[in-house]
Amino acid sequence: MKDQKELSIKVDGKVFSINDEDLTLLDFLRSEVGITSVKDGCSPQGQCGCCTVLVDGQARVSCVTPVRRVAGREITTMQGLDGEIKNEWAEAFSQVGASQCGFCTPGIIMRFAALQKSGKQVEIEKVKRSLHAHLCRCTGWQTIVEAWEKVGKSEGIIETKEASLRASIEGRSTQKIGLDIVLGMGGFSSDTAPSNCLIAVPDSSGGWSLGENLTEARNRAQKIQGRRTTVNAVPPIELPPGDWDAVLKTNWVEPGYLETDSAWCEPGGEPSTPLANGGAFGSKLESPVPEVARSLANKYKRPVLAILSREDSVRLGPKRPPIAGGVNKNGQGVIRVARTSGIVDAIHSVAPEIEVEEIDLRGPITSSKIRAAGWAEAQILLCGALGEVGTIISPDGSSASAEVDDRRINISVRCGKPLNEMVLRSYCIGAAHMAWSWVTSESLTVDENGEVQDLTIRSFGIVRAGEMPEVHVEIEPDKGKSINGSDAVFAAVAAATWIHKGTLPEWPTG
Ligand code: FES
Ligand code: FES
Repeated sequence: MKDQKELSIKVDGKVFSINDEDLTLLDFLRSEVGITSVKDGCSPQGQCGCCTVLVDGQARVSCVTPVRRVAGREITTMQGLDGEIKNEWAEAFSQVGASQCGFCTPGIIMRFAALQKSGKQVEIEKVKRSLHAHLCRCTGWQTIVEAWEKVGKSEGIIETKEASLRASIEGRSTQKIGLDIVLGMGGFSSDTAPSNCLIAVPDSSGGWSLGENLTEARNRAQKIQGRRTTVNAVPPIELPPGDWDAVLKTNWVEPGYLETDSAWCEPGGEPSTPLANGGAFGSKLESPVPEVARSLANKYKRPVLAILSREDSVRLGPKRPPIAGGVNKNGQGVIRVARTSGIVDAIHSVAPEIEVEEIDLRGPITSSKIRAAGWAEAQILLCGALGEVGTIISPDGSSASAEVDDRRINISVRCGKPLNEMVLRSYCIGAAHMAWSWVTSESLTVDENGEVQDLTIRSFGIVRAGEMPEVHVEIEPDKGKSINGSDAVFAAVAAATWIHKGTLPEWPTG
């Protein structure tokens, strides 16, 4: 065993001694110092930016930084930012809807704070480039850039009940709006777990390994960490035979939510929810982690936090099911889709004339609960056959239309009483980003054994800041019951993007 030197690090003005020089800065900050605003979205991949802190004033991802490399240096986290500066950022993000689940936000604020402190006039293109070190799945980037422009020009705080209600309707799960959410205090299970929790992570044999901390649990699990493949993703289903006005083949798509699944439980208690501040686009509704935490806590008579790494989440989490379909202008057609509970009903809810064939495939699990799964594809095919988007009506009864070119996306949405237009706009921009990204760039490579090969968060193809057309949202006046509008926007923008790209028969179109 090699000799461990004692190191010292200054964190937010306080000096700490460390004996384990192999510990990452992220693990040290979260497990040893207890700073939970520094998030773990992909460690040890170093690709999502959620764990960004300042090292001697420079932004750096802490999950790939061993503590020995920052010995004697000064670390600043959100907790150590000047109070006034922190508040200005929190207000700016809150006022434009630049934070939804809030998981990515503290890391982005740390990077912005470092950029701002450089003292020079910063061009907006540089701000967008700085975001290339980050991933946000909720907001679609535009409002984050707006927050940069807004900082220091406070107009009061957006923290109303109506804003949170609109966020929860759009997120289809409890979502709060407020300064604490922006600052990383969304109440995520991995942050609220008691400090004496055993940590449980999936091992390579289908079981769970436990440790006193994340590093120990992962070492025991002996997992090889994620990688991406250079093999291109090929849509797995053949088109139905026929003479169709429009055809489309899609692939498995990773929902790519930033906060991986986690839940903790006391012995004999009820597990915490992995849906603390957002619904992960429907993907966490059947997450296994609460029951794993419960049974391990009962077995070991200790509180247990069950948590997935990014790679676990890609391997085990549900995907958007692939389809291959052909339809005609008269609304008739055939969609073949990976066998998925509820998907036939989802398609028939908007397109009763389309025949659905479920196909058994080797591949990751799929879910019809993921945003607009099935019904969006049916609407998109119908729009492709007609060569125009028209108005998309969701199964909820909301409506949306969209016009798309390479520079601009125009959206119109009607979804009952808006409650808070800023929040609704933010969710519509996020949905537009997810739709554009899906059509042009996203898919997962799955090998012949059904194993996902794209295991890093950058390999999903999520479109970065600076690569998105500008999004304009028009909210149609409506006094009716408030209903989800962003899913209809998602379907409308995907249809308009596909038509703009020439209704190519396979996605992603590039
Ligand atoms: S957790 Fe460090 S970059 Fe993702
Ligand atoms: S707000 Fe960025 S990932 Fe949710």
